[in-house]
Amino acid sequence: MTTMVTGAAGYLGSYVIDTLLERGKKVVGLDNLAWGNKEHIERLDDNPNFTFANVDVTDTGAVSATVQENGVTDIFHLAALHFIPAAVADPSLAVRINVLGTQSVLDAVRDGGVERMAFASTGDVYAPSDDAHHEDLEPAPFNIYGLTKLQGEQLIANAQRSLDTKFLVARFFNLYGARETNPHIVPEIVDQLKAGSGVLRLGNLDPRRDMVPVDEAGKALVEALAAASDPITTVNVGTGTAHRMGDLVDTLVSLAGTGATVETDPAKVRKSERMHLQADVGRLRNLIGWAPSPDLEAGITTLLKAEGMT
Ligand SMILES: NC(=O)c1ccc[n+]([C@@H]2O[C@H](COP(=O)([O-])OP(=O)(O)OC[C@H]3O[C@@H](n4cnc5c(N)ncnc54)[C@H](O)[C@@H]3O)[C@@H](O)[C@H]2O)c1
Repeated sequence: MTTMVTGAAGYLGSYVIDTLLERGKKVVGLDNLAWGNKEHIERLDDNPNFTFANVDVTDTGAVSATVQENGVTDIFHLAALHFIPAAVADPSLAVRINVLGTQSVLDAVRDGGVERMAFASTGDVYAPSDDAHHEDLEPAPFNIYGLTKLQGEQLIANAQRSLDTKFLVARFFNLYGARETNPHIVPEIVDQLKAGSGVLRLGNLDPRRDMVPVDEAGKALVEALAAASDPITTVNVGTGTAHRMGDLVDTLVSLAGTGATVETDPAKVRKSERMHLQADVGRLRNLIGWAPSPDLEAGITTLLKAEGMT
């Protein structure tokens, strides 16, 4: 019984793999190292329960072979083009990896008789709103990234009709914590502070985001897949609270103790950006007793420690 994690070199993948290994699972991590971080794989070189498969998730034959050769029973499908500006800049690549890649994993699920599959979707499938998003709302993505993730969800619904596999669709909100691979706002600030910059050059700080500690999100994903009993279970993975990005910057700068002023960098202001993203988390609470840490200060303090900044 082996669990496969696609996007194994990525940010969330590294935490999901840690959780699985801590729970005694055998894991095969699949990634083509297009981005992510090679160190997330190399740190596991000596772990007998971990194998790395350097495979492109859009290569249907290679993904199926990885599943069958390793006797995979459960899959966490996280590989994606996730950084929204990169997806907006290259929509064809976003469609290829996020849509074709997901179908490729679904083909492997069918051919390998996989029992359970979790899919990393996003809060970006919802239409912009000032209210918390409940899973039953009609999705209406706002950008190409959200659209490709919604298509991934639809491909799962299509595949499920002819399979006994149990599927979990996890709509993640904004993950934060050590090991981040994409230049989101938190690693951006950390990098600028580490470079000794007294002036932070950032994008729009008015949007509000539901910030989820990444280690807690990784554990929740593993627990939710084990607990899901419907053919398809869809859950939000957020905290239920939205923070203004300007307040996040203030908290980070104050906890880092470096002092810094903020200037707007026009190159970092996104042409179109939703102003508010917040999860309704009742369903995940009912499924696994999800009670994420609401304390942004505590999470940022842990992150700064991991970055060697406190
Ligand atoms: N980080 C967040 O805040 C967040 C929020 C919502 C949803 N998600 C979703 O969670 C998942 C993981 O996100 P992340 O932050 O870890 O992203 P990430 O960019 O760190 O990881 C993605 C991984 O996928 C790999 N990959 C890309 N193309 C591939 C291909 N063709 N074949 C094989 N591997 C390939 C990359 O090399 C990378 O290691 C993604 O599906 C993302 O859309 C993340």
